[in-house]
Amino acid sequence: MKQKEILLFGATGQIGRNLIRKLTKNNYKITAVTRNIHRAGYILKTQANPGYLRLVELKTFNPEKIDELMQNCSICINLIGILYEKKKNFFKIIHSDLPDLLSKKANDFKIEKFIHLSALGIETAKESSYALSKLQGEDKIKKNFKNYIILRPSIVYSVDDNFTTQFMSLINKLPIIPLYYNGGTKFSPIHVIDLVNIIHKMIDSRYKQLTLECVGPEELSFKEILQNLLLSIDKKRILLPLPYQIAKLSAKILQLFPKPLLTEDQLKLLKYDNCISGKYKNNFDIGLESLREFKNEIDKYSYNWRTGGQFANKNNVN
Ligand SMILES: NC(=O)c1ccc[n+]([C@@H]2O[C@H](COP(=O)([O-])OP(=O)(O)OC[C@H]3O[C@@H](n4cnc5c(N)ncnc54)[C@H](OP(=O)(O)O)[C@@H]3O)[C@@H](O)[C@H]2O)c1
Repeated sequence: MKQKEILLFGATGQIGRNLIRKLTKNNYKITAVTRNIHRAGYILKTQANPGYLRLVELKTFNPEKIDELMQNCSICINLIGILYEKKKNFFKIIHSDLPDLLSKKANDFKIEKFIHLSALGIETAKESSYALSKLQGEDKIKKNFKNYIILRPSIVYSVDDNFTTQFMSLINKLPIIPLYYNGGTKFSPIHVIDLVNIIHKMIDSRYKQLTLECVGPEELSFKEILQNLLLSIDKKRILLPLPYQIAKLSAKILQLFPKPLLTEDQLKLLKYDNCISGKYKNNFDIGLESLREFKNEIDKYSYNWRTGGQFANKNNVN
């Protein structure tokens, strides 16, 4: 059987890198699109055996270039996403206009399937521009192309993430960690390997017109997540609930940094639980169980942030 050719957008991210490893090991050929082939080359070249991975540089979403790529693929996977707006990177362009263009092209070239990564909880958090743009992107895909699969993950974590690793670095530096909304917002963190297994299964499945919520085995509040991280790196910190107005002010300041830890828009998102809605199928419903537990998994890489570890604060006491 001829192996499927996969066209992958957003290949250099946490999910993309893990997906390339999984798919190329299973003999899929991947064309990975990036804005900077030299930077991406260093990250991606070790993810696959020779012959299974081709890197293509695309600085802008040029429709003619996308035509060329789309006509040679059977599956297109879109992992491009941003957490905050900077310079010309607007939510609308990335989360709505790009999926619109890709799904139209998927339809024009009659490819087998378009798999798109959206996010959990976007229907309830509509006051957030991030959530609204993700929702608009989903609507465009559904209108343009019938063989779509939309995956909506909760927080995705691993040693490669921007979430647990950033928080463990922060815990190392700060004596007090702020809690937004009293730390009560709930999440169902899913390990990147479990999510990548779901994407892999979706490629050959007969599912189409599917919106699937992707969650891990637990529901943890933001406070419980922090407590697990503290326990795992063996540190004690004050978890301080911040009144909303102060949280908003801190987000206003933090969002000015080049890689902000928190923006006003993220603060709006944080207000809503990030767990299964019951409105859509989730991975457990269709037999794709994600059994990796948060604490067990972070224990495997958190040693880097414990006292004496590579990323621990050298001047820090417990
Ligand atoms: N990680 C999570 O916790 C999580 C949770 C829910 C949903 N998701 C969604 O899952 C998808 C993948 O997440 P991830 O964590 O792997 O993301 P990531 O690590 O932030 O990577 C994002 C990718 O998007 C590309 N990108 C960013 N801005 C771009 C732009 N202006 N033009 C073109 N490409 C751009 C980057 O590619 P280059 O720099 O190589 O061009 C990068 O490979 C995203 O859609 C995200 O919203 C993630």
